[in-house]
Amino acid sequence: MGFPVERPRRLRRTPALRRLVAETRLHPAGLVLPLFVREGLAEPAAISSLPGVVQHSRDSLRAAAAEAAYLGLGGVMLFAVPAARDAVGSAASDPDGILNLAVADVRAEVGDSLVVMADLCLDEFTDHGHCGVLDKDGGVDNDATLVRYAEMAMALADAGADVVGTSGMMDGQVGVVRSALDEVSAQHVLVLAYAAKYASALYGPFREAVDSQLQGDRRTYQQDPANLREALRELRLDVEEGADMVMVKPASLYLDVLREVAGLVDVPVAAYQVSGEYAMVEAAAERGWIDRDRAIAESITSIHRAGADVVLTYWAAEVARWIAEGRA
Ligand code: PBG
Repeated sequence: MGFPVERPRRLRRTPALRRLVAETRLHPAGLVLPLFVREGLAEPAAISSLPGVVQHSRDSLRAAAAEAAYLGLGGVMLFAVPAARDAVGSAASDPDGILNLAVADVRAEVGDSLVVMADLCLDEFTDHGHCGVLDKDGGVDNDATLVRYAEMAMALADAGADVVGTSGMMDGQVGVVRSALDEVSAQHVLVLAYAAKYASALYGPFREAVDSQLQGDRRTYQQDPANLREALRELRLDVEEGADMVMVKPASLYLDVLREVAGLVDVPVAAYQVSGEYAMVEAAAERGWIDRDRAIAESITSIHRAGADVVLTYWAAEVARWIAEGRA
């Protein structure tokens, strides 16, 4: 009988040893909390498919942002639900539109203690729910949409956003947004490019969160889950167009894409653990089928391990609390 020469188990013997040699660590500074604000709300409203996540009122949003700063999170990513929608998503670029007001509110609340990110996309603001404006046949008109993104970028910069997240998946959006920002002397505003955003089934709960009006799907602009090479092409274009950071979304089902992206670029890499990833864990845990806290920690750790410097997750504040309490 041959006995092992190498004994890797030695490194796993005690919690202290395992902690010492962990290659990946959870830290609040690497986490970004997505937050929803809904125009006209007096009190926060629950989102049934995202238990524990709410649509905020303007006041409760400020409080949530203050808490995120207190917890040492890296940032917040703001999404807004307007009271009125139209074909071109007018509220998105209106300085008094709810997203721009929310960015200004959060900026006033947290100063520079937190990175304030805003989603730069039209889908929350259009009455048809698509991420752009439609042509006469009902398809999304890429270049007409870019004009709207430029206007939205300028409004968000004006409101005080540090980072705009270009999540619409229109061709040329990063370049257009960069030029628009530079034009209004917002050279300091970063573009977080959703380099690889897949047409995923995992956005379902988010669509409830923003009361999405979408009929049909986004497959003519978001990527086919079958494709990796295509993601790398999107990545190359976004970096060439001036992306300051790049994102892969969703995260858990796309760790291979994340790994490739992280190996290729010299800008920070983010990953978005989307609403469906959250909901699957919450639902299974509610039935007692998995250990909720372990599943959460494992999922975020794995996203970091695959190459994400920054993880957007609805659990960001909770995980930061665990870390503060020494429980993660
Ligand atoms: C588009 C956008 C979506 C998400 C973030 N930005 C929805 C979509 O593409 O349909 C989904 C995020 C999530 O599911 O948590 N503005």
